[in-house]
Amino acid sequence: FARQVLRGLKVVVSAGPTYEDIDPVRFIGNRSSGRMGFAVAEAAAQAGAEVSLIAGPVSLPTPAGVAHRVDVRSAAQMQAAVLEAVGQAQIYIGAAAVGDYRPASVAEQKLKKQDGDGLTLKLTQNPDILVDLSAQTVRPFLVGFAAETHDVAAYAQDKLQRKGLDMIAANLVGGGLGFEAADNALSLYWPGGSIELPRAGKSELARQLIAHVAERYRAARP
Ligand code: C5P
Repeated sequence: FARQVLRGLKVVVSAGPTYEDIDPVRFIGNRSSGRMGFAVAEAAAQAGAEVSLIAGPVSLPTPAGVAHRVDVRSAAQMQAAVLEAVGQAQIYIGAAAVGDYRPASVAEQKLKKQDGDGLTLKLTQNPDILVDLSAQTVRPFLVGFAAETHDVAAYAQDKLQRKGLDMIAANLVGGGLGFEAADNALSLYWPGGSIELPRAGKSELARQLIAHVAERYRAARP
C-alpha cells in the first residue's frame, strides 16, 4: 500500500477453521484453509494497522508485519482469544469459518465401534462471535464473511442485518473459488451500498477489501 490507510488502528482478524473434538483422536472441522484470512491480516498490516491474528488449526506461516498471533482450536477458544484481543481494537474482521456446533460432550477415551446400528452424536450450538461482539455497547467496526454455495447476495444481506455488521464480504464456494482454492471473488455489502470485487488471487482481493474497510470505517467513525 502506498497509502497507510489503517495507520494508528488496531485490527483483529480471525482466520481458518475451528475443530470441535469428539474424542482424543476425532473432531468435527471444515474445509477452510485460512488463506483468505491470512491474506487479510497481511493486507491490514501493509496498510499500517497493528494486527492481531487469531488462527484456527492451519499450517500457514504468520504473514509479514502481523504483530500478534494466537493459535486456537475450538470455537470457544477462538471466541475467548478474539474477546481478549478486540478490547483495544477499532476493527474486527471475522474471516474464520467458525463451527456452528460442537459435540455436547467430549469422550475422554477413544469411542469404540459398536456392532449393528449407526452412531448418533448429540451437538450443542456454539456461540456466534460476531453476534456477541455486535451486542456489546462499545464495539469495534465489524466485518463478517459469508461463504455460500447458492443465493449469495440474499444470504449475505440477511447476515449483514441479522448479525448487526458494518460490512460483509460474501463469496460463492465451489468451482475453483473459495475454500481450499487460490482464487476468490467477493461481493461487499454494507448498510446502503455494495461493490463486486471480481475473481483474483486472495492477496489482491484482500488488499481491495482492506481499502474498502478503511473507507467505510472512516465514513462510519469520522
Ligand atoms: O452465519 P455464518 O456462519 O455463515 O456467518 C459467517 C460469519 O460469521 C463469519 O464472519 C464468521 O467468522 C462469523 N461467525 C462467528 N461465530 C460463529 C459462526 C460464524 O463469528 N459461531
